[in-house]
Amino acid sequence: ASYKVAVIPGDGIGPEVMNEALKVLRVLKDQDSTFQYHADIFYWNSDYYLKHGRMMPEDGLEILKNYDAVLFGAIGDERVPDDITVWELIMPIRKQFQQYINLRPVKKLPGIKTRYDDVKSDIDFVIVRENAEGEYANSGGRLYSGMDQEMAIQNTVITRKGTERAASFAFEYAKKHGKTKVTSATKSNAVVHSMKLWDEAVKAVADSYPEITLEQNYIDALAAYFVMRPESFEVVVASNLFGDILSDLGSALVGGLGISPSANLNPTGEFPSMFEPVHGSAPDIARTGKANPIAQIWSTAMMLEHLGRDDLSTMIIRAIEQVLKRGEVLTADLGGSATTMEMGEAIIEELTVH
Ligand code: NAI
Ligand code: MG
Repeated sequence: ASYKVAVIPGDGIGPEVMNEALKVLRVLKDQDSTFQYHADIFYWNSDYYLKHGRMMPEDGLEILKNYDAVLFGAIGDERVPDDITVWELIMPIRKQFQQYINLRPVKKLPGIKTRYDDVKSDIDFVIVRENAEGEYANSGGRLYSGMDQEMAIQNTVITRKGTERAASFAFEYAKKHGKTKVTSATKSNAVVHSMKLWDEAVKAVADSYPEITLEQNYIDALAAYFVMRPESFEVVVASNLFGDILSDLGSALVGGLGISPSANLNPTGEFPSMFEPVHGSAPDIARTGKANPIAQIWSTAMMLEHLGRDDLSTMIIRAIEQVLKRGEVLTADLGGSATTMEMGEAIIEELTVH
């Protein structure tokens, strides 16, 4: 099979880190005749907006639909308001392509200083965030009933179907990766309607995985457990808001934006999924060569896993780990002085040695 990949480098450091990711893909293709892909690059960014008054062409989503995956850099530029760049490019892709899972690995990498360096067991888990409904459902409004009576209502939408598909993804992921426990974030002691349905739906899915333990933790306690014993988690499944918060907490535990990847998944495969670093366009370091390309390269590894090439994905992650373990080539965010390109080259060299 030859995969079709739509590449959107974006703004700021987006194109800089994307260049390194594309080199990694090229090297894998050169080395492995069973891996074929075709990449088309779409320059839909703030420059595009300033020229055309929109972030992507009118038929942008139609175009992307024909691809197996979207590899995204980062977007954001001081000349265009953030709500335009994000809401007119990233959000429509996530929504239209029903990318109802946001997947964020939380893995302690060798050579990265964390507060947990004395902890013997590795921190290595994933957060499965429900990405389509929950607390971020756009439902509610502002009411005015006279002076000092202003009020806002924001509804949380939890559906059995939406929760079950997120839970199913979490359990399938656990099964595939030999994990034995799924932790569900809840608050059904206080949020008694929506979170009780969440609990029931997660439990119903868990019942078909007798070999995997379900742990249901209240979100407040869970946040504390993340900090106290991060090594104890394997797969964490959470609603949109809880998952959003836990994801940032998770990446803070293990080392920061320069190395944090993410995937927005449409698990049914009906639409393309999108892979992107967690970080933004980092205008403060754009054009200085300081950006760390690891988050982008790791996001590319997640894309390859999604496309069924677990072997290539594992190879990339191993190469990143090897480079970090040696600690000779480190970008500024990791305490070194290597450039974006030097980091990319080091990872590629590691890939080609093996
Ligand atoms: P940011 O993630 O771009 O930067 C935050 C800090 O982390 C900065 O000091 C930056 O230099 C550093 N940083 C980020 N990525 C790095 C990397 N790969 N290597 C080394 N250091 C790195 O977030 P910020 O500054 O809040 O937003 C900047 C722009 O990015 C805004 O326009 C914002 O809207 C946009 N943004 C876009 C996202 C996306 O495309 N998905 C996500 C987050 C922000
Ligand atoms: Mg967030």
